[in-house]
Amino acid sequence: MRIAILFVLLFSNALFAFDLRYCLVVDASKHEANQKILKDILEQELASFNTEKTVADKADYLLGRVAQIAHALLRNGFSSDAYGLPDIDESSIAAYQRFALWEGAQNGVESIPLTFFAYVWPSSEFALQYNPTDPCNCRYLTLIHSHPISCSFSVLQGTLIQKNYELVDRVDRMVRLISEESFQELGGSIDRLTGPIFIHQLHGAGGFAPAVSLHAYGLATAEEVVRCFCETRSFHSYIDASSY
Ligand SMILES: [Fe+2]
Repeated sequence: MRIAILFVLLFSNALFAFDLRYCLVVDASKHEANQKILKDILEQELASFNTEKTVADKADYLLGRVAQIAHALLRNGFSSDAYGLPDIDESSIAAYQRFALWEGAQNGVESIPLTFFAYVWPSSEFALQYNPTDPCNCRYLTLIHSHPISCSFSVLQGTLIQKNYELVDRVDRMVRLISEESFQELGGSIDRLTGPIFIHQLHGAGGFAPAVSLHAYGLATAEEVVRCFCETRSFHSYIDASSY
């Protein structure tokens, strides 16, 4: 039964034949400008950090500065309108998408194990407007998950809802909702993998404009991050015991 539930969670869109339409870059030149703004900010951040430190220390430093970096992005002209919502209809559901902004592997002479993404989120109201009885996760929200690598995020535009869970059955991967947070501009969270297991689920909220957030992950390229998530998904996904 447990395997069947996880299968449904992971492949529900295929089972229910919804067409997933992903949030997208609507202005490539603005997206490229966003990448340049972030590159400049990170170069300043790293220049102010102790050069004797290891690349792992530098990655951890930047990971913990995600809110300050997001603030600097907005102050320096980050364009959230580089990103937009997909067109959807009765056969489709809108899905969130990530776009790489900066990869530590491209940082001059030393590769820093950190990658920044812009995440673009439809609100649940937008995503489900034609299919309000969506039976499962269909990527307008994340799976309930923990992280295989260190992560942090900060909101750049709109609202993100974070549901926090605690593990109640390690064998069956069951969790229980313990709190819900609403993050607006520069709000967010950090998981350095050092404390109790951090289990959460994220989705956008707030009507028919996308939420945009800055995310940092502890590997040096976007390809490594995505591959890591794919390879570990079944070990880092959970089932809400209240829906079982
Ligand atoms: Fe997460």
